[in-house]
Amino acid sequence: NQQHIPVIAIDGPSASGKGTVAQLVAKKLGYHYLDSGALYRIVALAAKAQNISWQDGLSLADLASKLNISFKDGEIYLNEQNVSEEVRTEEMGKGASQVAVHPALRLELVSLQHSFRKAPGLVADGRDMATVIFPDANTKIYLTATAEVRAERRYKQLMSKGIHANLADILLDLQQRDARDQQRTVAPLQQAKDAILLETSDLSIEQAVRFVLDQSN
Ligand code: DC
Repeated sequence: NQQHIPVIAIDGPSASGKGTVAQLVAKKLGYHYLDSGALYRIVALAAKAQNISWQDGLSLADLASKLNISFKDGEIYLNEQNVSEEVRTEEMGKGASQVAVHPALRLELVSLQHSFRKAPGLVADGRDMATVIFPDANTKIYLTATAEVRAERRYKQLMSKGIHANLADILLDLQQRDARDQQRTVAPLQQAKDAILLETSDLSIEQAVRFVLDQSN
């Protein structure tokens, strides 16, 4: 029984910075970290490699049940192969958002997500951490920023990696991804009733991390 192990659930839209904040909070507290979005990205990647359609929910669920996924030192492995770079692409972000609409696939990934709840605690980031996966989380944060600020953050991130990008295209992609994540019928992106809103448009990463730490004790 893992119910007594503390969980900090951080949900929010794409490019809100929740991954960066969640990782820093986990490090500060010595907690484990779950990047749930990576799971959906891995499924999108594996499906593409095996010619399984992102629209075929049952085949995706079957595929997910056979995947060997592991995380080590912040890197993501699929069948012992480091796929960290491949899953971080915009294409797999979009693919993840598409595979994530299927209830059968979401159900298949539940126990894997629960298995990350280990002592001394867990910081989990995603879209449905507080609402569906860890409804008994001790701390629930809904971390967001305006679409314009998020698009700019993503743009700068891509530029710093030397990847050419167009700000208007990024903004449009983000808005489409937000709409899909918020409008799906199963586990849509939404602020849990008991979650605290953290609007980061005018905050630094350090300020956001401090806010979460203050809430969690
Ligand atoms: O957090 P991210 O950008 O890596 O997530 C990619 C997509 O995966 C996101 O657009 C929707 C889906 N996702 C989800 O449905 N539920 C989660 N808990 C995490 C991600």
